[in-house]
Amino acid sequence: MNKNIVVIEGDGIGPEVTRQSIKILNAIADQFNHEFNYHYCLMGADAIDKTGNPLPDETIEACLNSDAILFGAIGHPKYDNDPTAKVRPEQGLLKLRKSLQLFANIRPVTTYPSLHHLSPLKTKNIEDVDFIIYRELTGGIYFGKKETSVDGNSAMDDCTYTKDEIERISHLAFKQAQQRRKKLTLVDKANVLETSRLWRKVVKEISSQYPDVALDFLFVDNAAMQIILNPKQFDVILTENMFGDIISDEASVISGSLGLLPSASVGSGSALFEPIHGSYPQAAGKDIANPLGSILSSAMMLDHFGLHKEAQLLRLAVNWTLENGFVTKDIDPVNFYFTSTIGELISDFVSNKIPVDVNKENIELRKSTII
Ligand code: IPM
Ligand code: MG
Repeated sequence: MNKNIVVIEGDGIGPEVTRQSIKILNAIADQFNHEFNYHYCLMGADAIDKTGNPLPDETIEACLNSDAILFGAIGHPKYDNDPTAKVRPEQGLLKLRKSLQLFANIRPVTTYPSLHHLSPLKTKNIEDVDFIIYRELTGGIYFGKKETSVDGNSAMDDCTYTKDEIERISHLAFKQAQQRRKKLTLVDKANVLETSRLWRKVVKEISSQYPDVALDFLFVDNAAMQIILNPKQFDVILTENMFGDIISDEASVISGSLGLLPSASVGSGSALFEPIHGSYPQAAGKDIANPLGSILSSAMMLDHFGLHKEAQLLRLAVNWTLENGFVTKDIDPVNFYFTSTIGELISDFVSNKIPVDVNKENIELRKSTII
């Protein structure tokens, strides 16, 4: 298979984690006779520094013409702490989502037995947690009319949804539920918001086309609580843009490390794959960031291409590193391995270069010598 992939390394730790994914995608390509061509583009603070624009037109153009986009991270503290900044890195990502009509953000939340001790939740509550969030990504309050009054004393952000916007993501979420445990939970605030009442009405109508899927509803405040109290109850969660932003960050800590979770943003054309962690500027350039979020996002990209065997192998390799303690500093602050070492190990695993009886001593040599 021949695929054209736009690579946006982005800000902070984006470049170093994305580099591991590319190393591993190349190993997959060699192993399975595929050809992946990469086209590097700018977005975010990096793009502002180099061009003055968080999303240069060439990036949009290249993305529109690609088969998929692999993205690192976005954001820089110099903009976060300056509410007067006119240009912000995040504007790049929002504009890209809109330009490519990436209307569904998909975030799987899974847990790994070897990381249970890192979760803020009790082990008995997180065993077998496995759910997936479908967050609407190109509508709602994020993209509504924004205004600040002339005197600067009031401001507004409009929240609007149309039936079409709700329908297209709902179909994806119902189809996903059919492939899984056949349960879909719509998270909204229908006791207060008009837009939420529209979501309920439209989703209820659509549900008749998916009679095998059990549909239920939760108000977002209750959902936030249930995700902590009993995350096992969820299978597929469907929600609007802002609620999805908040509950997906909340859900992401269940697994024990934010560094591990992947995401896909899909629409009708090219799809974008990115780890859910941010740019983590304090770690940039230190080779300590966890590359698994990016690597698992690459696995989602392979699935998107229909390369399921390849994606499965990548997930197997990730499990193998976790089970053998080949992990980065966020997971084991004392006996940790570097970002690039994890990338090499997974790439070697994919290329069948790791003997069944792994010689840990050789791997130990690549461990941090800080302690
Ligand atoms: C996310 C991020 C973005 C969002 C920011 C960077 C604009 O938090 O992808 O969840 O709010 O959508
Ligand atoms: Mg977010």
